[in-house]
Amino acid sequence: MQDQAERLRELMGKIGASVPEAPQGALSRCRLIAITSGKGGVGKTNLSVNFALAFAKLGKRVLLFDADMGLANVDVMMGIVPQYTLLNVLRGQKTLSEIVVEGPGGIRLVASGSGGVQELADLSEGQRSRFLEAIRELQVDTDVILVDTGAGLHRNVMAFVLAAQEVVVVTTPEPTALMDAYGMIKILYREKKDPIVRVIVNMAFHQAEADLAGKKLSLLAKKFLGLEVDYLGFIPRDPAMIRAVKEQNPVLLSAPMSPAGMSLNRLATMLLEERSKHTENSLTDFFNKVTHFFGGKS
Ligand SMILES: Nc1ncnc2c1ncn2[C@@H]1O[C@H](COP(=O)(O)OP(=O)(O)OP(=O)(O)O)[C@@H](O)[C@H]1O
Ligand SMILES: [Mg+2]
Repeated sequence: MQDQAERLRELMGKIGASVPEAPQGALSRCRLIAITSGKGGVGKTNLSVNFALAFAKLGKRVLLFDADMGLANVDVMMGIVPQYTLLNVLRGQKTLSEIVVEGPGGIRLVASGSGGVQELADLSEGQRSRFLEAIRELQVDTDVILVDTGAGLHRNVMAFVLAAQEVVVVTTPEPTALMDAYGMIKILYREKKDPIVRVIVNMAFHQAEADLAGKKLSLLAKKFLGLEVDYLGFIPRDPAMIRAVKEQNPVLLSAPMSPAGMSLNRLATMLLEERSKHTENSLTDFFNKVTHFFGGKS
């Protein structure tokens, strides 16, 4: 566990990553939640998409922001083909509000484009302020912004994870995934002031297995980092999830009463209820942090 965290630390050092904390007294009530993981393929995108749907059903205005620059996953999982992506915004071809697409259940989606976030670093001062202004406008009509990140140590991932107010770390019960999740939590502890970290164990064969894994992670964080990590709960391994991905129809739409569907609804409700003093910071600040991370001037 030490090793991965150390590697990430080294990486952060190399890219000169120091993420400023949010100024106090910021403005927005919009919550910003990053969904991330240490290991890839543990279910982040499925959770992001389904939490977005569940939040919308609970009456929230939701924006799902696909920050995974590798593959445009979120839109694929929803069966949406967006004409434009974040990349077009960063290249000045479209405004942010022009690329927001309406998804099922009234959720709004900002689709990623390969390489898009790297381009944040290259924006001119003028481009940057136009971008931030557009984000400010989006925030006005939004209660929750969910950010689906890529996995692991890449700086694209860490930029979003370190900038978000709340982080959900997804893992499976497998030791490798747990180790990588701990590595991610360790970085959050080191790089973020008072991080709000929650863990969800996905693809568990049964509750006992999930609870053991989730509690182990919380205990490790408490014992070695003195950090409170909230084990929120688990989602069972469920063929309905696999079918949903194949059919490009999220499980909460195709099989809401499946075991995974019911868990997702329960966890979404818990997440919404877990408010904290940290959830009042502005989204603009979030993007300031992201661009700062890539070397832009705030
Ligand atoms: N609860 C579950 N039960 C069964 N299969 C699942 C479950 N959750 C996810 N999967 C399977 O795992 C695959 C990977 O899920 P997903 O794409 O959401 O992971 P990810 O963490 O976003 O991956 P990446 O790191 O590549 O972005 C899905 O295609 C699906 O088949
Ligand atoms: Mg994904």
